[in-house]
Amino acid sequence: MAKSASSLAKRAGDLMNWLDDRLPVTSFWNAVMTGYQAPKNFNFWYYMGSLALLVLVMQILTGIFLTMHYKPSAAEAFASVEYIMRDVDWGWLLRYMHSTGASFFFILIYLHMFRSLLYGSHQKPRELLWVFGMFIYLALMAEAFLGYVLPWGQMSYWGAQVIINLFGAIPKIGEPLTQWIRGDYFISDATLNKFFALHVIAVPLAILGLVMLHLVALRENGSNNPDGIEIKANKGPDGTPIDGIPFHPYYTVKDIFGVGMFLILFSFILFMWPEVGGLFLEADNFIPANPLVTPEHIKPVWYFTPYYAILKAVPDKLMGVIMMGASVTILFFLPWLDRSPVKSIRYRGLWYKVLLGMFTIAFVRLGMLGMAAGTPAETWEMRVWTLVYFMFFVLLYFMSPGGKTKPVPDRVTH
Ligand code: HEM
Repeated sequence: MAKSASSLAKRAGDLMNWLDDRLPVTSFWNAVMTGYQAPKNFNFWYYMGSLALLVLVMQILTGIFLTMHYKPSAAEAFASVEYIMRDVDWGWLLRYMHSTGASFFFILIYLHMFRSLLYGSHQKPRELLWVFGMFIYLALMAEAFLGYVLPWGQMSYWGAQVIINLFGAIPKIGEPLTQWIRGDYFISDATLNKFFALHVIAVPLAILGLVMLHLVALRENGSNNPDGIEIKANKGPDGTPIDGIPFHPYYTVKDIFGVGMFLILFSFILFMWPEVGGLFLEADNFIPANPLVTPEHIKPVWYFTPYYAILKAVPDKLMGVIMMGASVTILFFLPWLDRSPVKSIRYRGLWYKVLLGMFTIAFVRLGMLGMAAGTPAETWEMRVWTLVYFMFFVLLYFMSPGGKTKPVPDRVTH
């Protein structure tokens, strides 16, 4: 028994050597996993990146199987989704995993981005890491929008109508641009076909490429941490950071625990409440697209509603589009707007806590208002929160260099 086990181990070792002579498997593993020193004080907020990776893989896999049964034509799309839900073996599971996965992706990304605001992860030397993240965020928004059109329900159709028409507000090129996006004079079969191609091939490829760049940029300087201290600045005699621990096995085990917790929560929603009261899947999208009947209340899915509220807050259409664009674009510049000498919120002054608190309330409240019917009172409230949203960046720029801070410790705390 012992002999056969040792001969098996030897064979596995031989195979590994054979592979290593042809592909740098072990050296790659050592460089990015066991040999990579990560700060030892990661907390809850550091689960989101690996979970986002998990959901990305899940979306791609479920997407591949959905594509096998989905028909990207205006005449058949809605029925093909119903067919997947009712007749394809496990089709309902694939479809709900994909639709629930989309919303969870955004929940994770918003938490992931918020962590950066907490611990100043976007600051020098991780500016490019943040910028790649922002490009991922843009690509994800495009991917989610394109995907939502595919079931060809009422909200797919009318949501696309509203969003594409926004481009029409651009002077001179607006009209030809909307025609180019639609591939027709109105939203039609050509539009659906084009969106399908972009959703299943072009944008996922871009996302994968950007995620690669994101991770390479992350490893270049290493992770930040809840204390916002550069662990590389404090190395032991062996040259490794004193406050670092090998990513594998410490954080692989931590991340596996995170995956377990996440899957429990995800499964609960998936099996018990996949529409989440119209938040993840809207009621109108269970009705086939009808160009002749406008739904009473057109609104995007929850993850777009903060920006939609900013659009609606401005009376002029073109100005609304510009403000909405600016609300996303300004996030790209966060690393340069935040000039604080201290990264982590733990050592920033009270002013930052208040500012970030207000910003968070503004974003959530705008999200809620973006889903509402839009009464005059709600419109005024949207204007107030839009102002708070933009004021966050203005005040951050002016207050961060001089704002009061607390002394930062030399070593990470935990
Ligand atoms: C598909 C989407 C994304 C994936 C798979 C992803 C993946 C990751 C992973 C695995 C990490 C390291 C673990 C962690 O810190 O949680 C990370 C770190 C980071 N990500 Fe992302 N990310 C994504 C999107 C974004 C977006 C949209 C942003 C911001 C706009 C962003 C900004 C950052 C920053 C600043 C860090 C470093 C955080 C620190 O070290 O404190 N990421 N990302």
